[in-house]
Amino acid sequence: MKRINTAVIPAAGLGTRFLPATKAQPKEMLPLVDKPAIQHVVEEAVHAGLRDILIITGRGKRAIEDHFDRSFELEHYLEKAGKFEMLKEMQAIAEMANIHYVRQGEPRGLGHAVAVARQHVGDEPFAVMLGDDIMTGRSTVLSDMVTLHERYGRSVLALKEFPRNEISSYGCALVEAVDDSLVRVLDVVEKPKPEDAPSNLAVMGRYIFTPEIFDCLEQVQPGAGGEIQLTDAIALLLQQQTIYGYVFEEGRYDIGDKLDYLRATVELAIEREDLGPKFRTFLADLVQRKKLI
Ligand code: G1P
Repeated sequence: MKRINTAVIPAAGLGTRFLPATKAQPKEMLPLVDKPAIQHVVEEAVHAGLRDILIITGRGKRAIEDHFDRSFELEHYLEKAGKFEMLKEMQAIAEMANIHYVRQGEPRGLGHAVAVARQHVGDEPFAVMLGDDIMTGRSTVLSDMVTLHERYGRSVLALKEFPRNEISSYGCALVEAVDDSLVRVLDVVEKPKPEDAPSNLAVMGRYIFTPEIFDCLEQVQPGAGGEIQLTDAIALLLQQQTIYGYVFEEGRYDIGDKLDYLRATVELAIEREDLGPKFRTFLADLVQRKKLI
């Protein structure tokens, strides 16, 4: 079985849901506590054993490359100021993975962004991680999916139950149960109307793909929203190969959504050793003062 080494992170979107914060900076650089969202995603990949990272960028995304690069000026300053812990932390960001970049050119949809990764990925299985979907520190979703791929040698989609009225924001999967959290995917459809949704299971932004997905991506025509949809390529792949789904419940936030962004920030902050205890006290006090419950 081929081991998965590469995670592809599409990061070319305009971030219109988060304007004005994203007018002059990439949405992937919005901080969750003190770490840019994309660093959370890269760290999650590294924790799952994926150290080859390909970020699909576009115009106005230079800050991402600078973030994962060394900054000798800053390092020099931190060293002179005796801030050695911070210095080590800054150097570690540049060294935690091998990060590569390729530009998408035209923004033609998520499927197109993944197709751009073909030359880098080659004939190997790989992961796709959407930067809007943030997993909290304790999530093992990606590593569990890697394990499933190692066992079955097939593509694996992350799935989560949603109320019917929310399913239209996602890819939706019809499945049959295999065991506990493992299902076999029978069909997928991108952003169905609630009445047309084949189930209440939404596709979340973590995928493991066999390399055959690239041929499927070349065949798909523009779909929902006039874009090349990854979901449509998955539907084509289903005609050739079994695809599994890994159903999980907790720890995922859509940080492109303002409310979920706030939820993610709070959860990540209370998990932190340095901030957690004081922040919990603050929250408890806030609940009382504002009579929230
Ligand atoms: C994308 C995918 C969709 C998936 C979602 C997960 O949609 O097209 O299938 O369910 O990510 O967050 P987007 O959020 O880019 O509209």
